[in-house]
Amino acid sequence: MTSSRAIRMLAGFLTLGALLTAASPISRQAAAQSMPTPPEGARAPEKDYYQRSLEIYEFRKAAKSGPERGQEIYYFKCWFCHNQYTKDIPKLNDLYKRPTLVTGGPVNDDSVMNLIRNGTANMPAYKYALRDEDLNDLVSFIKEKGFWDNDTPPLNPRFRAPSN
Ligand code: HEC
Repeated sequence: MTSSRAIRMLAGFLTLGALLTAASPISRQAAAQSMPTPPEGARAPEKDYYQRSLEIYEFRKAAKSGPERGQEIYYFKCWFCHNQYTKDIPKLNDLYKRPTLVTGGPVNDDSVMNLIRNGTANMPAYKYALRDEDLNDLVSFIKEKGFWDNDTPPLNPRFRAPSN
């Protein structure tokens, strides 16, 4: 490559760069404007559970709702602290048999949900991460079982045993 050609190419790149830099705020603005705001009271977009990533995203691989789904939420959001290997973190399998919560006060669905929502001095709060629907499933699991058992992981609801 001759040096004058190289210089011309370099000049070309620089001009292109300058143009792109100059144009970018405008194109960003245009993109923001082309996203229409949905009218008030508009229906939420249809959910398609055949799109399996939605089940992963919503913690619904094992079940749509109930304790089985609660177990899935527990596995991803609680188990890494509430498990048999950690010290000084209460186990939850016999929570409903205890007279009071570690923070004081009675043990019932409402008090347990509030503790999870607000956290404690040593536990994170989940009020912005879990909705009431999620908390209901989670608490139904804690009440029923309350621990992750490696020997009985959730069954795959899509599995069909071959009939012989
Ligand atoms: C970072 C670790 C951590 C995570 C994650 C965590 N917890 Fe906790 N949890 C604690 C600790 C520590 C305590 C004891 C309270 C204290 O010392 O303030 C506790 C206490 C509790 C209690 C009260 C137990 C009792 O005996 O009164 C419940 C119920 C509970 N956690 C549920 C959950 C649930 C459900 C999740 C998941 C959504 C969760 N926790 C996630 C650390 C954690």
